[in-house]
Amino acid sequence: MRTIFSGIKPTGHLTLGNYLGALGRFVDLQHEALCVFSIVDLHAMTVEHSPDRLRELTREAATLYLAAGLDPDVCVVVRQSAVGALHAELTYLMECTAYVGELQRMIQYKEKGRGRPKTRASLLTYPALMAADILLYGTTHVPVGDDQKQHVELTRDLAVRFNRTYGEVFVVPEMMDAAVAARVMDLQEPTKKMMKSTSDDSLGQIRLLDPPDVVRRKMRRAVTDSDGVVRVDRDGKPGLTNLLEILAAATGEESVETVAARYASYGQLKRDTADAVVAVLEPLQKSYADLAKDPAAVDAILAAGADRARDLGTPYLAAAKEAMGVG
Ligand code: TYM
Repeated sequence: MRTIFSGIKPTGHLTLGNYLGALGRFVDLQHEALCVFSIVDLHAMTVEHSPDRLRELTREAATLYLAAGLDPDVCVVVRQSAVGALHAELTYLMECTAYVGELQRMIQYKEKGRGRPKTRASLLTYPALMAADILLYGTTHVPVGDDQKQHVELTRDLAVRFNRTYGEVFVVPEMMDAAVAARVMDLQEPTKKMMKSTSDDSLGQIRLLDPPDVVRRKMRRAVTDSDGVVRVDRDGKPGLTNLLEILAAATGEESVETVAARYASYGQLKRDTADAVVAVLEPLQKSYADLAKDPAAVDAILAAGADRARDLGTPYLAAAKEAMGVG
């Protein structure tokens, strides 16, 4: 039996990158396995944060999960902090399994924290929390975007090390890559990953809640190049290739090259990509508007998700503690 776990951290407004790399895939996967999809709010506190904004963004992300089509009767939708005791306790066991050196080698720590004043200790131990998220549920598969590869690999290493040292407790999980658009790039700086959006006027990111006219404007203004030839070339033509990948992912096509072969002009490609993204986002936004009217219903779904997550996670935590000598 396959068990899938994945999470998104509410550090900003979710973008098309989060959808194509993660959320949109969760919706398809929910029917294929036992799935736990978490809004990982504890991870959002590893960098400076505002409590009120975190609460708001957590609610927005939970509502987006449901609006995108996650069905709480089919999969578990949960806020990480609602089962925080389990995640935190297993994190400590993971911190007693991981080495400082391997945590310091994580790209995210190097980019966001190492050597900077006021770096939170939790940014360094972030991968232990992420490993705990995954291992707590006996996860076999982890659907994530390309940028999470190093974290999933460390999780595998920790599971193997734990099992070898203390006995077989954890399932060693596998990463599930996205077929296309595993790394959606910023529309203005296409050599950088599209990050979650925190400012209102950024042209580089498409938010899941951007109205159609805003999506079309951002696509029209997307940075490309001046040679006018439509072909896939991630290094030489990153902006154009990003549009092709977005179009392929939004329309469910597996081959970016096949998509490229249909286009002779950048203008038409941009228009069609905008249309395809709007077609994905419009139903999600309608559903979001309905769900947002009834926050109590969203809370009830999250409360039920927390109960189910607790039931699923408790035996793994108990077995890990027992194996380590603190059961
Ligand atoms: P986060 O919140 O940065 O991103 C959530 C998911 O979206 C994917 N993603 C992208 N995919 C394609 N293109 C992009 N531009 C893009 N930006 C983000 C990410 O790969 C991810 O799948 N550490 C994780 C959250 C996490 C987690 C977990 C994930 C915590 N515990 C356990 C899986 C399992 C993170 O910061 O994702």
